[in-house]
Amino acid sequence: MKKIVFIVGSLRKNSFNKSLAENAAAIIKDRAEVSFLSYSELPYMNQDIEFPAPEAVKKVREEVMSADGIWIFSPEYNFNIPGVLKNLLDWLSRPLIENDSERISAVTGLPVTLSGAGGRSGAANAKKRLSELAVFMKMKHMEGEEVSISLTPEEFASDILYLDSDRKRKLEDQTERFLRFIEA
Ligand SMILES: Cc1cc2nc3c(=O)[nH]c(=O)nc-3n(C[C@H](O)[C@H](O)[C@H](O)COP(=O)(O)O)c2cc1C
Repeated sequence: MKKIVFIVGSLRKNSFNKSLAENAAAIIKDRAEVSFLSYSELPYMNQDIEFPAPEAVKKVREEVMSADGIWIFSPEYNFNIPGVLKNLLDWLSRPLIENDSERISAVTGLPVTLSGAGGRSGAANAKKRLSELAVFMKMKHMEGEEVSISLTPEEFASDILYLDSDRKRKLEDQTERFLRFIEA
């Protein structure tokens, strides 16, 4: 069975992006194995401690390398991606072996798709930054429409994500296409 690792760019307990990811997992059901990457224990990227990789870094790399694809669900912080997510991606971007001339990382060639929930822009700027990072990090970014949710004042007030039929259809569409993308 194919395996997809979900990466949520927010550490918040009631995160809308986490909730979006849980909805995607419910759509996937048993058609792939889904796991949520736990990365809140990662140290800050610091080249002084890069080799040998700290245990927490080894763990996230192993989890990601065991996957057939990753799906990143991220909010937008100040027109950009959250620092915790950038820190994780910085660790994942680095070569597994010191001085490797091919610079193979845990995510080289790995299929990826992106979604985001945020304010008025629907985390569009964070998604744009993430798609640039995906190219730079030599991942295989799936083409086509990706879910971008502009949270309503009611959602912010209740802290609960509401998937109307349009949002649900878009999430289902991205899910079906990503399942096919990782099969290819
Ligand atoms: C430091 C910070 C900066 C933010 N900047 C933006 C922003 O630039 N654009 C935006 O749409 N929302 C911004 N927000 C609001 C987030 O989109 C909102 O808090 C969202 O619920 C976070 O996602 P989560 O529910 O998955 O944690 C910001 C929030 C924080 C904490």
